[in-house]
Amino acid sequence: MTNITLEPNGKPLGPKVLGLDLGQEVPEADFAEVQRLYEEYGVIVIPGQDISPQDLIRFSKRFSELVRFPMVQFNLPEEPDILVVSNVIEDGKPIGVGDAGRCWHTDMWYTDNPPRGSLLHAREVPVKDGRALGDTMFASTAHAYDTLPADLKKLVNGRSATFSHDFHAEWRAAKAAEQADDKSAARKTRSATSIPDIKHPLVKTHPVTGRDCLYVSEGAIVGVDGMEHAEAMALVDELLAHVTREEAVYRHNWKVGDLVMWDNYSCLHCAIADFPSSMRRRMYRTTIR
Ligand code: SIN
Repeated sequence: MTNITLEPNGKPLGPKVLGLDLGQEVPEADFAEVQRLYEEYGVIVIPGQDISPQDLIRFSKRFSELVRFPMVQFNLPEEPDILVVSNVIEDGKPIGVGDAGRCWHTDMWYTDNPPRGSLLHAREVPVKDGRALGDTMFASTAHAYDTLPADLKKLVNGRSATFSHDFHAEWRAAKAAEQADDKSAARKTRSATSIPDIKHPLVKTHPVTGRDCLYVSEGAIVGVDGMEHAEAMALVDELLAHVTREEAVYRHNWKVGDLVMWDNYSCLHCAIADFPSSMRRRMYRTTIR
């Protein structure tokens, strides 16, 4: 018996999971159901959670040990297992990472063993004319693999791609400059990186569900094994377009108290920066191994 009900949204991912109070110890049967739904959908939304940082950590730790964000200046000082994702500046210093991913990505692809998933809790959400801004989009890479045409499956199965953090930093800086009012200032925001390029298979088998999932990230891949550069880039673009097609994307419009949990194997996500810097957005993120 569980207290949980599910509110589907017509998409392959992102249903609402209702009946939970994460401010309390979640009963074993409810937790097992949350885990099952997380595995089935890859993204679940648990709305209405008025919880402390400690509650977020306690709930996150029931899934696994936590992974601490390496840029420690952005972690919550009193709970460093929480990454603050925020545009807020206090005493002249950013309280968190302003841009945790404004492109289609899967977290920490630049490491050889990227973490399983993340939990993001909304503390402050920018609102204009009664509508929240700063949505996050999610796309199912498991559904994308299932629906991939047979010839593309044949092309990607067993093939690896090279992901480059350096290239990605350049790509992001160029994108930011394109969108910024002060183009020269934005261009300078790129920071040098010493993170080496890394290979990942284009198809990863989910360690828990056994489902095959496409593994791609926007502006990150610089080559595909056994393919000419132009052909490889065209393939990556085609895969990204397939994963992120409208009918397979769930767009989350945040309310304070929402907790969204995603799986880095079975989805990509993308934050939408459609709010001015004068508006505050503050989210707390934990990352599970
Ligand atoms: C993230 O990619 O970890 C954060 C997403 C967001 O800011 O909405």
